[in-house]
Amino acid sequence: MMLQNLKQLFEDNEGKRAIGAFNVHCLEMLPAMLEGAKDLEAPIILQTSLGTAEYIGFDLLVSSIETLVERLDVDVCLHMDHCKDIEALKKAIDSGYTSVMYDGSSLPLDENIKNTKFVVEYAHANDASVEGEVGTIGGAEEGVVVSEEDAIYTDPADAYKFVRETGVDAIAVAIGTTHGQYKSKAKINFELLEKLSSNLKGVGLVLHGGTGVSDEDMRRCVANGMKKVNVGTELNKSYIEEVNKTFSTATPLTSLRKLLLPANNRIKDIVMEKTELFQLK
Ligand code: 13P
Repeated sequence: MMLQNLKQLFEDNEGKRAIGAFNVHCLEMLPAMLEGAKDLEAPIILQTSLGTAEYIGFDLLVSSIETLVERLDVDVCLHMDHCKDIEALKKAIDSGYTSVMYDGSSLPLDENIKNTKFVVEYAHANDASVEGEVGTIGGAEEGVVVSEEDAIYTDPADAYKFVRETGVDAIAVAIGTTHGQYKSKAKINFELLEKLSSNLKGVGLVLHGGTGVSDEDMRRCVANGMKKVNVGTELNKSYIEEVNKTFSTATPLTSLRKLLLPANNRIKDIVMEKTELFQLK
């Protein structure tokens, strides 16, 4: 079993679901994520920040995922989340990532297009897919806060030009969700989503900031054409909640394994709940 790219997963799941893209925060949670997908016989996108990839090590991360894919027989894409460093994206692809996101959203559109196109050429020559971004999704990325006021909705004309000129496989759009929103729910601009999905056929729309979206809005996003949904903070937050409970009562002789197991189980539950939520009825 090989890892797949986004294009392959989008084609195989057309009309069935949006594919859950879950941020891997540490190696410990990896088996639980894949077991969740396996139990539902659903595909999964595992994504990392560059920071996490460097923390775990590209080689260890890729070989662990390949081993688990072999063991569990699940459709998996390994994707690099938001990255502005083109050399790092090339390294990811060379190491076995099957998909990358080049985030040039803070650049002028023409520069974003030029850089994204370069990444697309490199990725496609290596059978990997590319996600780009137009507009600015607010919230915290890797601890760096982009305030909600600084979020800029994706302009449909810019997005159309971007997709046509870069040849990306997927595009992250800003429609009102923010990264790291776990205390309140996002207000989504569904009118904009409808416009984007009718203008951008043949490219996968990506919803970032999946944590702060109500179930009802999430179903509507998927029904309106979202193909990939990112969930990060909910996993991080829940892992911390569980280990806070177990570590607070641990002694030096308590096995670490027992302290981490409840957190890993919670990750599996979240992956399953979200994967079911992203299914088209
Ligand atoms: P959340 O952390 O808000 O779920 O967003 C994840 C994300 O969009 C990663 O790019």
